[in-house]
Amino acid sequence: SRIKEVEFVKSSGKAKECPKDHRPEFAILGRSNVGKSSLINALVRKKEVALTSKKPGKTQLINHFLVNKSWYIVDLPGYGFAKAPDAARMDWSSFTKGYFLNRDTLVAILLLIDASVPPQRIDLDCANWLGRNNIPITIVFTKCDKMKASKGKRPDENIRDFQQVIRQNYKVHPPWIMTSSVTGLGRDDLLLHMSQLRNY
Ligand code: GTP
Ligand code: MG
Repeated sequence: SRIKEVEFVKSSGKAKECPKDHRPEFAILGRSNVGKSSLINALVRKKEVALTSKKPGKTQLINHFLVNKSWYIVDLPGYGFAKAPDAARMDWSSFTKGYFLNRDTLVAILLLIDASVPPQRIDLDCANWLGRNNIPITIVFTKCDKMKASKGKRPDENIRDFQQVIRQNYKVHPPWIMTSSVTGLGRDDLLLHMSQLRNY
């Protein structure tokens, strides 16, 4: 499950414009600031994967990166960065939904959840929408290295709270992994998990 090579392929504005390819892919999804770019960089162990240069909320396209010439990692526009409260609901542009619903080679979505904050409505809405549409997800908790804030809860407590709500909406609890881009926690687990899903 080693990553030897990562190559940017293309940015697409519509599901239809995505690379026509049989190779499997994983899409990275999550709120702005959840640690999407950091996780990708931690996974590929490269600083110049171009994703880091994307400004918050600027990713408006579906970006395909080919890994080891054999599978794709796909960067998607984040959600929840809209300032207007109502605009922050499950309000993906139709092209992103079109991608989820029509991309046959999509193995799973890695849904990133910030473990340093309590469960967020928008993340739960997102997980539930994906569940209702039978789109497979792996929940990737980010920032698990963060210590307890003065009045906040610890990451493991936030994770437990999040899992509890998810359990009410999923018949089968999605797989989940704890990660930190700072300490490298979960990196190898996640790579192994993805290779298992690819070979399933
Ligand atoms: P957008 O590009 O705005 O969508 O954000 P993003 O999801 O790509 O988040 P990004 O990787 O830019 O990280 C946001 C902030 O969280 C940065 O200040 C990171 O340094 C920090 N961060 C990301 N991952 C971790 C982590 O595992 N631990 C800690 N402590 N901080 C993290
Ligand atoms: Mg980013």
